[in-house]
Amino acid sequence: MTKPRVAVLISGRGSNMMSLIEAASEPGYPVEIAVVISNRPEAHGLARAQAANIPTRIIDHKAYADRASFDAALDAVLADEQVDFVCLAGFMRLLTAEFTRKWYGRMINIHPALLPSFKGLHTHERALEEGVRIHGCTVHFVTPEMDVGPIIMQAAVPVLDGDTPETLGARVLAQEHVIYPAALRLVTEGRAALRDGRVVVDEFELMPPALVVPPAF
Ligand code: GAR
Repeated sequence: MTKPRVAVLISGRGSNMMSLIEAASEPGYPVEIAVVISNRPEAHGLARAQAANIPTRIIDHKAYADRASFDAALDAVLADEQVDFVCLAGFMRLLTAEFTRKWYGRMINIHPALLPSFKGLHTHERALEEGVRIHGCTVHFVTPEMDVGPIIMQAAVPVLDGDTPETLGARVLAQEHVIYPAALRLVTEGRAALRDGRVVVDEFELMPPALVVPPAF
């Protein structure tokens, strides 16, 4: 049986992309990473994808007059590559409402915060500024409004005294690499269904106990 074809969209180093490529290299994983697409020719992730024998495409946003023409070019590449699902993995570019509506339910994003807190950029700095005790990451379906779409999966990490944006970001990133492949599996297996703008997951197995920070002894 052929597996659904996934495009991973990147703009930079591509560590989340690599977590998806590595997951998909397991025979039991339900998708094929068909192509990695970058809007930046210099993105480091392109070389990492090529080293993993994944086809790459560059759609340099600077070559397009506006968002609509960039998104049309992107859509054409996705059609050309016969893509079924799209994963945004550090893809730092806003997509048009038309494009996101077309791919609704088939396009997911990873964000380095527990949405709906800390949408946008510099999430770790802002979490430290606010003094939150728990931070994390979110995988969600993409909708026209940035960082707002239905939430599929989240991981929480403690914020430790003395954390810097770098130490906290590294703790979050390690969990991004866990939940992105897991969420993509749920979506592509049809186990994370959209119902009335929310995600319903068909089963919750082995739920962990609550995370309380600092621990309540
Ligand atoms: C990741 O932390 C990802 O969550 C974030 O960019 C980083 C990309 O790293 N994405 C966003 O901030 C999107 N709003 P990576 O290229 O190593 O995966």
